[in-house]
Amino acid sequence: MTVQEARPSQTEVMQWDEKYIARTFNRQDVVWDRGRQHRLWDIAGKEYLDFFSGHAVMNLGYGHPAQKEAMQAQLDKLVHNGNLFHFAEQALLAKRLVETSFGDKVFFANSGAEIVDLAIKLARKWARRERPQEDQYEIITLKGSFHGRTFGALSATGQDKYHQGVGPMLPGFKYVQINNFAATASAINNKTCAIMIEPVQGEGGIHISTVKYIKEVQELCKHNRLLLILDEIQCGLGRIGYFHAYQAFDVVPDVLLLGKPLGGGLPLSALVTRQDVALALTVGEHGSTFGGNPVAAAAGRVLLNELDRPGFLEKARKTGAYLGQQLGMLAADYPDRIVGVRGTGLMWGLELKERGPETVRLALEAGLVINCTAGQVLRFLPALTITPEEVDEAVAIIRKILAGKTGPAAG
Ligand SMILES: Cc1ncc(COP(=O)(O)O)c(C=O)c1O
Repeated sequence: MTVQEARPSQTEVMQWDEKYIARTFNRQDVVWDRGRQHRLWDIAGKEYLDFFSGHAVMNLGYGHPAQKEAMQAQLDKLVHNGNLFHFAEQALLAKRLVETSFGDKVFFANSGAEIVDLAIKLARKWARRERPQEDQYEIITLKGSFHGRTFGALSATGQDKYHQGVGPMLPGFKYVQINNFAATASAINNKTCAIMIEPVQGEGGIHISTVKYIKEVQELCKHNRLLLILDEIQCGLGRIGYFHAYQAFDVVPDVLLLGKPLGGGLPLSALVTRQDVALALTVGEHGSTFGGNPVAAAAGRVLLNELDRPGFLEKARKTGAYLGQQLGMLAADYPDRIVGVRGTGLMWGLELKERGPETVRLALEAGLVINCTAGQVLRFLPALTITPEEVDEAVAIIRKILAGKTGPAAG
């Protein structure tokens, strides 16, 4: 006989969390129970409209039927065994990633940070193989970028606040201002092996590279024989309305980094590159116990199929433009509260003149999930399948908050 455990209350869960989980997040007072499409429910039964997608992960919403079916089928067959063996789902996903990109080869890992670390390793190995007489290991990244929390990814991240108190960082990184081509060009020296760019900065507050800048950096990389690495972990896989973000910038990188939505909510990340670059790492020089898990890979294949479906991305772009337009109207109506609106596709930031967390809390109270990044930027990252009616619903909630409350002072 199995004893059914009593269902904990919201208060109990929050108390256990406070008591037993080390505190590295400022958590909202909500305990999630379940999700369907673009809605979430907490364990007290309250319904929410989701414009956060679990950190830009649930690009197809919650419980997408084909994704769930593919994951369940693999779960029933085999959850895990490891990379000393072949898995159909992993091979099929790699095949689809190659077919839908510039690449020839795929490396798999679990998290975004891990795949960034791999890109650093690969770039150094590649440069040393290409030009063994020179010791090239430096990578140029952008100020304001976010690449993850492992020491490699943290060192690549161009934000001091993440480096404070945990140094020294990994040597070999230089940070330049986004869209400043002259600064980027002059950061290159005889030690440089790559330039890594997060084309639309997510954690940094939704700052967008210009097409001109990314194109110029591509030429710069070609001219200096450097790898152009694009971190599309947040802005890729449909988020800005293109299958891959690089397509919106009309460039082709040497190395593409994917993560977040790839595993349909399970950890899965990928590095896509050309054969000549992939050859820089040989058997035994890289590995992962879990990387490329078949259940996560099954979800990834469904995501790629959906992105490829005729009209899917056009619709996401259209709804994204509508969201941007509606946020723009808010900014026009509340110039005393809003600095401006930035974004593309379904990745938008509304910069407030005050700190954002209080507005995020009020939105949650009113049944809307968003988050705040870079202190004052409300970030909107709905599922790619969000509807214009749901955009209206979300914007109406924010409008009501802006109309109804006097916010805390900026700073
Ligand atoms: C652009 C970008 N790169 C890397 C990462 C790190 O990903 P993860 O949290 O899966 O390690 C993130 C996470 O927010 C990200 O937005």
